[in-house]
Amino acid sequence: MDLLKQRILKEASIVNADVLKVDSLLNHGADPELTLEMGREFARRFAGETITKVITVESSGIPAAFATALAIGVPLVFARRKKTLIGDPDAYCERVPSFTKGIVTDLIVSRQLLGPADSVLFIDDIIANGDAARGLIRIVEQSGARLAGVGIVLEKSFQAGGRTLRELGYRLESLVRIRSLENHVISFEE
Ligand code: G4P
Ligand code: NA
Ligand code: NA
Repeated sequence: MDLLKQRILKEASIVNADVLKVDSLLNHGADPELTLEMGREFARRFAGETITKVITVESSGIPAAFATALAIGVPLVFARRKKTLIGDPDAYCERVPSFTKGIVTDLIVSRQLLGPADSVLFIDDIIANGDAARGLIRIVEQSGARLAGVGIVLEKSFQAGGRTLRELGYRLESLVRIRSLENHVISFEE
């Protein structure tokens, strides 16, 4: 998605060789028109799939996932991230480490919102090592729902998350892929 590449070049800043700060577009704000275009692009890419719901993880996944759900015409479900001490029998729960925060949190989805009748498209803002994504996929599996595909706004292809999910056989589509942040330069794939 060229428009998104241009905006990343203009607005993102490199924190270090592993981390890109994309506050205005993904992590601390959103451009509504650009976000709606992300949703339309995911809807086009997954047009051949049966999708009953879009699922994401709070908080930064929500704008793009909302836009995708709108474009496809299905409901949105977002997993909550919590630090919990006790299990909730009414929810699916998976513990995941977080790449940027250096802590573990629990991903939680109500059993009322996801079940065997669902075929879900998982949308997220950034994939790094893929821990959050794999946790969310385990929740989809626990629920008996089918995972129709994974759509990622920004894949850092120098980290293993995207590759690992493709190797597991999931269909993963990224709107932009960054192959390096070395030497203070953002290098895109292809
Ligand atoms: P992973 O799924 O690929 O393993 O990523 P991980 O769980 O390690 O990521 C944890 C959080 O770190 C995610 O946000 C993810 O978007 C974010 N993250 C990973 N790499 C980068 C990066 O280069 N830049 C920025 N800005 N964020 C990155 P989260 O914990 O779900 O928090 P939230 O942003 O949704 O609130
Ligand atoms: Na994030
Ligand atoms: Na996220």
